[in-house]
Amino acid sequence: MRGACPGAASLSMELAGGCCAVSLWLLLCRLPAPGAAAPAPPAGPLAVGQFWHVSDLHLDPTYHITGDHTKVCSSSKGANASNPGPFGDFFCDSPYQLILSAFKYMKESEQQVSFMIWTGDSPPHVPMEELSTKMVINVIGNMTSTIQSFFPDLQVFPALGNHDYWPQDQLPVSANEVYSAVANFWKPWLTDEAISTFKKGGFYTQLFQSSVSPQPLRIISLNTNLYYSPNHVTLNITDPANQLAWLESTLEISLQKKEKVYVIGHVPIGYLPFARNTTAIRGYYNERLVKIFRKYSDVIAGQFFGHTHRDSIMILLDEKENPINSLFVAPAVTPVKSVFQRESNNPGVRLYQYDPLQYSLLDLWQFYLNLTDANMKNESNWKLEYILTKEYGIEDLKPENLYEMAKQFTVPHSKLFQQYYNNFIVSYDKSIVCEGDCKTSQICAMQYLDHSFYTDCIQRG
Ligand SMILES: *[C@@H]1O[C@H](CO)[C@@H](O)[C@H](O)[C@H]1NC(C)=O
Ligand SMILES: *[C@@H]1O[C@H](CO)[C@@H](O)[C@H](O)[C@H]1NC(C)=O
Ligand SMILES: *[C@@H]1O[C@H](CO)[C@@H](O)[C@H](O)[C@H]1NC(C)=O
Ligand SMILES: *[C@@H]1O[C@H](CO)[C@@H](O)[C@H](O)[C@H]1NC(C)=O
Ligand SMILES: *[C@@H]1O[C@H](CO)[C@@H](O)[C@H](O)[C@H]1NC(C)=O
Ligand SMILES: *[C@@H]1O[C@H](CO)[C@@H](O)[C@H](O)[C@H]1NC(C)=O
Ligand SMILES: [Zn+2]
Ligand SMILES: [Zn+2]
Repeated sequence: MRGACPGAASLSMELAGGCCAVSLWLLLCRLPAPGAAAPAPPAGPLAVGQFWHVSDLHLDPTYHITGDHTKVCSSSKGANASNPGPFGDFFCDSPYQLILSAFKYMKESEQQVSFMIWTGDSPPHVPMEELSTKMVINVIGNMTSTIQSFFPDLQVFPALGNHDYWPQDQLPVSANEVYSAVANFWKPWLTDEAISTFKKGGFYTQLFQSSVSPQPLRIISLNTNLYYSPNHVTLNITDPANQLAWLESTLEISLQKKEKVYVIGHVPIGYLPFARNTTAIRGYYNERLVKIFRKYSDVIAGQFFGHTHRDSIMILLDEKENPINSLFVAPAVTPVKSVFQRESNNPGVRLYQYDPLQYSLLDLWQFYLNLTDANMKNESNWKLEYILTKEYGIEDLKPENLYEMAKQFTVPHSKLFQQYYNNFIVSYDKSIVCEGDCKTSQICAMQYLDHSFYTDCIQRG
């Protein structure tokens, strides 16, 4: 099997003093490899925990194949679709069939997962006039039912995206029709307490009770859209919806209770890897969040975002440049790009593996659909793109290992970095190389999340 016993060494070491190190070792080695043909479900409790991450579905209900390529989808905004097929087009948001193919693949892979995280953005990229509050609510409801139809018993932890509101990006700081309607859709997944904070500010926290660990995992789902630069509603507000104060007190309680936390959200913190000197959220909020995440880095076992539609990694460093947190941005399911963009992404979904006792992250399996190939063959041949530890030759996803990896990328003409960049665009086009300024932006954004460190990095070149 391809991914033989991921994380086995570190796990069995931690467990060696316990009752059953040997049997756990055996369990680890029976772990089915994602992507392997018809993996046999393991008999006992998994010694490696797993969860799915999907993001940026962006359903375009208008998508249809027609001779006039300007009319294939509203999301091409009048541009000609490039090569429209049953699974979509690089100038269009997702046809429903593409989204179905993603969830069908995930379901049929029979991976044993404990939960799924879903980091938002369901509606299409279309002009404001073509949507409404009602349409946005309908699309989020549709995506929720779609996920539930494939995974009726799975715990899903969702987060809102900047497109999950009308007008887009303008997510409010208090109760409104959208938060309320979405809270109703998500009732099967969330506790009453989570629903209640969600209705007020679009964020929540909830415990995931593991069957293996005495310690539950705390999920904190942030509404980072409140900090997103185009959100005019929150201009000049120090702490929109009091989410920052809530986050700090939630993390403080977690620290007291010795919990572990996964932070999920749509718009990531830090700098955009493809744009110089640009944070996705306003600089002021970014500095505040970096400070909070540094203070509580021992509690936070991972952070997961979407929004950029690209596959990227960030390592949070403390003031002394020690790596203290691992952050992941998952690529989109939608393949859409605008006519001004050189590159896009193939549709992707991913699986994380974690230590089920401590919740530290062990590995990441990225799956993708070669859209060109799928359309050509009229077949949704989703497959494994890469396994992170194998791809970059590291042991697990701990911050120190990712930091080591990032250091290796900085070597001129690094093949590993070229591979990272190919994965960044989800194997969209292997011939695209990222060097010079392109590489500097990537490397600095990967390692430096606050203004002063990032600026130093850019100036070093
Ligand atoms: C979701 O939207 C798709 C595409 O418009 C449609 O075919 C499907 O019936 C909808 N499903 C639900 C549950 O609303
Ligand atoms: C779309 O393609 C057609 C046929 O090639 C062409 O005539 C038309 O100008 C194109 N439209 C746009 C907006 O590029
Ligand atoms: C925000 O503050 C700036 C500068 O103090 C001011 O010019 C602007 O009008 C304010 N915007 C809003 C929406 O309050
Ligand atoms: C980015 O910021 C650095 C430091 O402030 C500056 O030297 C550089 O010119 C800026 N680059 C761009 C493209 O704005
Ligand atoms: C995707 O499929 C096309 C068409 O079959 C092929 O030319 C291309 O090399 C494939 N890309 C990858 C990354 O496999
Ligand atoms: C593509 O496959 C689907 C189902 O497998 C079939 O219904 C459809 O007719 C096929 N389309 C083309 C263009 O061959
Ligand atoms: Zn998006
Ligand atoms: Zn977004």
